[in-house]
Amino acid sequence: MRSFSFFYWYIVKRKKLYNYLKIKHGIENIIPYKVLSWQIGYKYFLGKCYGKNIFIKQGGKFNLVRREVDSIKKLSCGRNINKHYPVIVTFDIEEPFKFIALEFIKGNSLKKIIRKELLSEKDKKSIILQMFQIMKQLKSKEMIHMDIRPDNFIVTKSHSEKIFIVLIDFTFSMLSRNDKLYEIERNKKNKAILFNLGSELNPEPLHWDDAYSFLLIFKQIDKEFKKKYPKMWRIINENIGRLYFRY
Ligand SMILES: Nc1ncnc2c1ncn2[C@@H]1O[C@H](COP(=O)(O)OP(=O)(O)O)[C@@H](O)[C@H]1O
Ligand SMILES: [Mg+2]
Repeated sequence: MRSFSFFYWYIVKRKKLYNYLKIKHGIENIIPYKVLSWQIGYKYFLGKCYGKNIFIKQGGKFNLVRREVDSIKKLSCGRNINKHYPVIVTFDIEEPFKFIALEFIKGNSLKKIIRKELLSEKDKKSIILQMFQIMKQLKSKEMIHMDIRPDNFIVTKSHSEKIFIVLIDFTFSMLSRNDKLYEIERNKKNKAILFNLGSELNPEPLHWDDAYSFLLIFKQIDKEFKKKYPKMWRIINENIGRLYFRY
């Protein structure tokens, strides 16, 4: 977001939002977060809700907040409860202030961790195995995340100090095989928004296939992925082309 529009928002509109979140949802201590990443109408904040530290994603184009809420709910029900996905604290899918508030996850993005080459062999293995579970869980729910990139995995620690992976950012997630992203009208401008979604780790722009993206990330984590994990390599390859979305 450009600094001018941030300051305009901060001076003119901030109070209304903060009051709304406090009165309707009991959210306090709100501060803007990652302001330079505010995009497609989203603003991010940190806050506190009944003693919990939270991350807030507010606004956004189309019905994307609803999509994110529905995706997290779908993934979190059944056997996957509280596993590898953010925990929703509260949300609102109606105007004037659509938002989702998630429990704050303390950790680093997988992107940062790969770049800094901080991983021991044991950590690499643990991350790969957990991400493989995530891939299988997405598949079992027939969901396509659409933006499988190292930025969208948070590497955190469990109570026993073991490394634990959380997948975030379900903005554009496909809720089922038959989902078509209907809320996004097909026009040039919207196509341009989607063009970069998941790019570099997609088979091609406007073609999303999570299995393909997972495979590329596993190779980034461990250059010898194919040699060390031949069975997993085969399973992922078998999954490529099975659950995908083309715009
Ligand atoms: N539950 C959370 N706890 C802590 N930080 C989060 C949480 N969810 C997202 N973030 C941070 O906010 C950033 C933006 O959120 P994300 O959902 O990925 O939106 P975007 O569509 O802008 O990528 C993430 O890259 C991550 O650093
Ligand atoms: Mg993201």
